[in-house]
Amino acid sequence: MKKLIYALAAGAFALNASAADVSKGEALVKKYNCASCHGADYNKPIDPSYPKLAGQHPDYLTHALRAYKRGAGANGRTNPIMAGQVQPLSNKDMADIGAYLASLPSQFVVSK
Ligand code: HEC
Repeated sequence: MKKLIYALAAGAFALNASAADVSKGEALVKKYNCASCHGADYNKPIDPSYPKLAGQHPDYLTHALRAYKRGAGANGRTNPIMAGQVQPLSNKDMADIGAYLASLPSQFVVSK
């Protein structure tokens, strides 16, 4: 039974690794210079109304990017700035970026 659990866990890890590629995400945010607005380490946005991205949940970040790409309509987000940013990104690109940004040290805290 234990062996089966380890095998399943290893399988899940492998699936996860193939789903999103952190180093590809890092290359993409450099290429598109996302830090020019979201700031150093993705923790110091250039304007207080711009969100900190470092350490947010990977699924949330990916979901947000896809929502900007959907734009107006079902479950979309309409933000003129981000709408332009996401146009060149594929779904895989957005997942890779989400994984990379989520891997960065976060300044967010969970209050207990
Ligand atoms: C010109 C400035 C600018 C650039 C460049 C930019 N962003 Fe943004 N980004 C914003 C603003 C402003 C918002 C908040 C928009 C809103 O209110 O929905 C935002 C929101 C986001 C969000 C949603 C965060 C949340 O907490 O909901 C993500 C994810 C994001 N940006 C990722 C990126 C990525 C990845 C890139 C590069 C491909 C990028 N941004 C480039 C200005 C920018």
